[in-house]
Amino acid sequence: MANQKQTWVVTGASSGIGAAVVRRVCEAGHQVLALDVNDTAGRMLAEECGAKYLHCDVSQPDDWQRVVEQLNEFDALTHVHLNAGIQIAPPNVPLQEYQFDAMTMERYRRMMGVNVDGVVFGLQALLPLMKTSGAIVVTASLAGITPYSVDPLYAMSKHAVVGLVRSLAPTLAERGISIHALCPGGIDTAIIPDDQKVDGAIFMTPENVADEVIQLMQETDTGKTWAKVSEVKPVFLVRAPGDRG
Ligand code: NAI
Repeated sequence: MANQKQTWVVTGASSGIGAAVVRRVCEAGHQVLALDVNDTAGRMLAEECGAKYLHCDVSQPDDWQRVVEQLNEFDALTHVHLNAGIQIAPPNVPLQEYQFDAMTMERYRRMMGVNVDGVVFGLQALLPLMKTSGAIVVTASLAGITPYSVDPLYAMSKHAVVGLVRSLAPTLAERGISIHALCPGGIDTAIIPDDQKVDGAIFMTPENVADEVIQLMQETDTGKTWAKVSEVKPVFLVRAPGDRG
């Protein structure tokens, strides 16, 4: 990671990929504002690695307002990792409950609130703070570029953010800001349904994916969608029709 001092915001920072990114960035000596709704884990992480933790439900615009106020105490914002995400059902229920037919309005609103609104509201709050430069990575999913029949609504939400990243990039590029969508396959974190953690299932580590997030922050060819399918292989570009970049 470049030596110049950086200021990061990471959502979904208390666990999994987000926590791994926070650790890496703090180790490199940069400032991090870590955001999550799991305050106990978030505060422990912040204490462990020197980040600042703030409660932020990414689906709530008022919480983002508090993030902007908090950032007044930081150096200029340089890096944003919009990473918070959930599936349509909690990990401890059978896979049938992830199916479209089992959808409840409460679960649907919550999932869309975190996975889609959380990215939109995050960009709306933070882009004004990145005046002439910056780098953004959105954690989408392989489910954002391929079918994921286990949880079709989650797949829909991840396709949405891939479309947003691709479509927003040219305008942000005029302001010197890059934005990328990272689309990983299975990673050993709390979001994985218990019923998928079966013998023989292979998952990547959050640390491995965190390294890719940090790499993508330096990728200037903006608006790209990157798949990550294996621990031992780097990300690769998934082109959209007409994408000649
Ligand atoms: P995780 O469950 O370990 O971490 C997700 C974090 O988001 C948790 O700390 C949780 O408290 C937080 N969160 C949930 N609702 C929130 C809200 N309303 N506001 C703020 N934070 C909230 O899972 P993981 O895997 O680290 O997930 C990170 C991202 O990676 C998610 O967007 C997920 O969809 C995506 N992803 C995960 C894959 C996997 O296999 N683990 C594969 C592809 C993408």
